[in-house]
Amino acid sequence: MSMPKPIENPEVKFTKIFINNEWVDSESGKTFATINPCTGEKIADVQEGDKVDANKAVAAAKKAFELGSEWRTMDASKRGRLLNKLADLLEEDLAYAASLETLDNGKPFTMSYHVDCTGAVKELRYMAGWSDKIVGQTIPVDGDFFCYTRHEPIGVVGAIIPWNFPLYILTQKLGPILAAGCTVVVKPAEQTPLTALYLASLIKKAGFPPGVVNIVPGYGPSAGATLSEHLDVDKISFTGSTEVGQLVMQAAGRTNLKGVALECGGKSPNIVFADCDMDYAVEMSHNAQFFNMGQVCCAGSRTFVQEDIYDSFVEKSVARAKKRTIGNPFDPTTESGPQIDDIQYEKILELIESGKKEGAKLECGGGKKGDKGYFIESTVFSNVTDDMRIAKEEIFGPVQQIIKFKDIKEVIPRANKTTYGLASGVFTKDIDKALMIANAMQAGTVWVNTFLAGGGAHAPFGGYKMSGVGREQGSYGVDEYLEIKTVVVKIPQKNS
Ligand code: NAI
Ligand code: MG
Repeated sequence: MSMPKPIENPEVKFTKIFINNEWVDSESGKTFATINPCTGEKIADVQEGDKVDANKAVAAAKKAFELGSEWRTMDASKRGRLLNKLADLLEEDLAYAASLETLDNGKPFTMSYHVDCTGAVKELRYMAGWSDKIVGQTIPVDGDFFCYTRHEPIGVVGAIIPWNFPLYILTQKLGPILAAGCTVVVKPAEQTPLTALYLASLIKKAGFPPGVVNIVPGYGPSAGATLSEHLDVDKISFTGSTEVGQLVMQAAGRTNLKGVALECGGKSPNIVFADCDMDYAVEMSHNAQFFNMGQVCCAGSRTFVQEDIYDSFVEKSVARAKKRTIGNPFDPTTESGPQIDDIQYEKILELIESGKKEGAKLECGGGKKGDKGYFIESTVFSNVTDDMRIAKEEIFGPVQQIIKFKDIKEVIPRANKTTYGLASGVFTKDIDKALMIANAMQAGTVWVNTFLAGGGAHAPFGGYKMSGVGREQGSYGVDEYLEIKTVVVKIPQKNS
């Protein structure tokens, strides 16, 4: 795949709060630093939005949603054109966007470019197409009535974004929110506000009316919680930890029963049978865990391997992990950059220690890499058992757990024995086994002979159990932002 050269020092052009298509300072005058995870040093100071600023943004979004407003009276097809225009603007300067993402997040530029930013453009284009294809039904109710449904935009949405795919997850929410005709207040993650603010500049340039999209950088318990508690916010779309997902749902329940779409954590099983194509399964299982430095909600973080091939699978996985290149994310040969921040870094290192203490076998890695930034060695544990913390908790880091199993009957309940249910995978040449696993997994996605594939705009994505509520992407993702109204009209039966 061809790729332009990265810009190693992309200029940071936007650091203010974006409300009503204007750049404003925080009311409190406070700012916060966004940090380069490669060095731990400050990239820029960003205006810190808190409750007051989030309230201002919600008021703007509410006004933009008023009946008769420019946005509410806009042709649906024009909403689609605006989304496509936004995609065009982003695509024109994709190397800049990807460089900015790499600077702020630390992920390899090859990934920022080909996955995050390219994915963001595709997301916007796919959802642009939905804008004028949202249709209701006509329903043959009993009696002399004409009955139809209108699928209306739900109103003001609060979108709370994590730091692992900052721009991509933002567009994953903005696409359907805007296609549906809603307005929105976005709270980017405090670790990675820069690409969201850059996108705000393109939103203005594309010609979205003021107040349709507002972006308030700041912290979760202040700016974020203001959105989930707000009486004028009609829906929250959240991606992040299960813990905060629960807080968002509680806040919705306490206040106005706003709808919630939650995409939370995972501990996804990846089941490798002895009859698989082993080298391929090793590579895919490696990628399932180490992609994006393990900071992936649907990572294959429990690698179940059938006993017949267990030892050689471990050996090959260790060799692969040792080969993984870690370093400067702007170098095109780098496979992994740093973890996002000191908190995640310490969390991962502590979980690695727990794995050692609980008796898993550390095959490689296990420590910090370098003396600057938040780099961690590619780590593989074998002899992992189901009760260990590393087999139960979301590590969100470059740490693979390889667990032994005997047969399909035994592995199904073990794979499902988790509070999570985001994704799962199976590697086998046997179609019967593949389909039995696909039916049995309590998870929103099942991958067969692949992992992390198809994660684009087209197919629904979301979790069973504590991995979430609702689905993003595809037509299901648009439905999240629609209210359904039934209209019943009396039809006079006589001509008189
Ligand atoms: P988090 O859930 O705290 O952060 C996600 C977003 O929620 C951020 O924008 C944050 O500012 C916001 N937030 C935090 N507290 C909030 C509150 N009380 N009300 C409203 N919004 C709030 O996740 P964090 O602390 O960054 O990471 C903790 C763990 O969560 C990770 O180690 C990982 O296991 C998991 N995680 C899962 C993600 C996913 O893709 N599902 C993404 C990021 C983290
Ligand atoms: Mg947190």
